[in-house]
Amino acid sequence: MDTTLVYHLVLFLHILGAFGLIAALTFEAIGLRGLRRATQREDALMWLGLSRTVQRLAPASLGVILVTGLYMTATSWGARGWILVALAGLVAVAVIGGLLTGVRMARLGPAVGRASSPLSNELRSALRDPTLLTSIRVRLALVIGIAFLMSVKPSLAISLVVVVLAAAIGLFASLVGAGRNELHTEAG
Ligand code: HEM
Repeated sequence: MDTTLVYHLVLFLHILGAFGLIAALTFEAIGLRGLRRATQREDALMWLGLSRTVQRLAPASLGVILVTGLYMTATSWGARGWILVALAGLVAVAVIGGLLTGVRMARLGPAVGRASSPLSNELRSALRDPTLLTSIRVRLALVIGIAFLMSVKPSLAISLVVVVLAAAIGLFASLVGAGRNELHTEAG
């Protein structure tokens, strides 16, 4: 097959992978919002169902992005600054998702399964763990930063600034969000 055609098909798959990742992050954000508000076991179980979809979609999308990205890099681009930073950013997205969210969700699922309605205060605070919010906001900001690198293809230095700035904005957004939620909880 024509190598240009293959390249464009791989790029298409790469972009589909990016859509998949954005969809997974969106499902995760909706599920998290539902879990944070859940007071009954049945509601929490329903939102946890969404998080199971995320657990399949997110790694599959990351895998597609990585394999197709590496193929395009190896065949056409070489180790450019924006690609190296995007690669590190993608690894950070996977590690943050696994360590900050994956581990907690793996504990929360069975805990909700064993619980009775209404959920205990202890379990409700575990479902409202601010780390889950920080994790998704930082990952979302990183993915947007990486999408910027993909479109603009800047130098190594600018790429680093973009990704660090994106992570800082995600972190700041989660700190502001956590402060607001605390105020709501106190008011409630
Ligand atoms: C969150 C992660 C990522 C997203 C959302 C993403 C998104 C995109 C998008 C939308 C394009 C099309 C840009 C264009 O055609 O101008 C693209 C192109 C590309 N991406 Fe990624 N990407 C990601 C990660 C990666 C990684 C980790 C690598 C390297 C291993 C990579 C390598 C490439 C390459 C080489 C191109 C081809 C650019 C071209 O032919 O113009 N991407 N990416």
